[in-house]
Amino acid sequence: AVGSNDASPNADALDESPFLLACRRKPVPHTPVWFMRQAGRSLPEYLRLREGVPMLESCTRPEMIVEITLQPVRRYAVDAAIFFSDIMVPLRAIGVDLDIKPGVGPVIADPIRDAAGLEALRPLVPDDVPYVTEAVAGLTGELGATPLIGFAGGPFTLASYLIEGGPSKNHDRTKAMMYGEPELWATMMDRLADLTIAFLKVQVAAGASAVQVFDSWVGAVAPQDYRESVLPHTSRIFAEAEALGVPRIHFGVGTGELLGLMGEAGADVVGVDWRVPLDEAVRRVEPGKALQGNLDPALLFAPWETVEHRARDVLARGRTAEGHIFNLGHGVLPSTNPDVLARLADLVHEASSEY
Ligand code: CP3
Repeated sequence: AVGSNDASPNADALDESPFLLACRRKPVPHTPVWFMRQAGRSLPEYLRLREGVPMLESCTRPEMIVEITLQPVRRYAVDAAIFFSDIMVPLRAIGVDLDIKPGVGPVIADPIRDAAGLEALRPLVPDDVPYVTEAVAGLTGELGATPLIGFAGGPFTLASYLIEGGPSKNHDRTKAMMYGEPELWATMMDRLADLTIAFLKVQVAAGASAVQVFDSWVGAVAPQDYRESVLPHTSRIFAEAEALGVPRIHFGVGTGELLGLMGEAGADVVGVDWRVPLDEAVRRVEPGKALQGNLDPALLFAPWETVEHRARDVLARGRTAEGHIFNLGHGVLPSTNPDVLARLADLVHEASSEY
């Protein structure tokens, strides 16, 4: 395996961590839990640290990355850390002119809409992201037996930002290219898949214990279009990532009708948003996969009794899966109370160890 974990003294404890056991569909002492977007967002210690530092700049400072990645692990006793970065970081690293605007999201100076534009998408080499290698290496020392999840954006989601030039509701131009210029689309998706693979490789080579591909907006496409225009590229990502020797997680939002195809794409774990109950997701995803999810992030604004009731329901349905990693159905919402997340992580640990 490429992962440098093999040589570290933490290797055995890491291998036996509930998160990695669940990814591999092995028995667990309790259901592991972590929260997408747990780093940053609602934590006051994060907001203090980030004051005056633009988002993308913070992703290039190893000490800041290490500290922000560790903050939620300290607060919530979650079973995994997620590397503090962004899906746009590798694009920025190869020279694409982009920014992340607070309250808006990624904004691209020169959207890519033709073959000439594709020239901007050159291959990523490890030297493009030395701060990632340095931060991951620093983190694996600090985290001990808590696994670090590396991540990258999925090709549809990255393509959408690049083609639209920013966040989009309907993905009009993206779909115009997908339907109208299939060869250009395929070339673009190929380059983005290469970028995703390269960015995941850097993180695992430096010590990450698992990887997640966030194809957040892929739920916008119909199954037949997913099969034709997206699946070949996500399949290649997961096939090439297999050589990294760590569990691979595949996540998107609004993917109820795509869950079967996302399973086919080849990851070890399929992420499920809050719209499909986990026992139903088990029926939609082929056997041999673990599932991750899927409490509605907005439920955390409800009274605790409601949160508890629904979290127990997620755990019960999750027991029908071959492996279950408890998570929200999408990222932590910015105004979430950190105390509720801490209480939820405790509840998942306690309630699931009763079985
Ligand atoms: O805790 C974590 O999950 C680790 C860090 C992380 C960030 N972005 C940091 C971030 C991760 C995993 C991401 C992934 C990401 N980035 C996705 C996929 C996950 C998802 O939620 O579906 C997407 C679509 C992006 C693109 C992006 N970056 C958006 C839509 C935004 C929000 C813009 C806003 O302000 O509402 C960002 C900015 C961003 N990425 C922030 C953080 C902590 C907030 C910016 C800030 O704190 O200044």
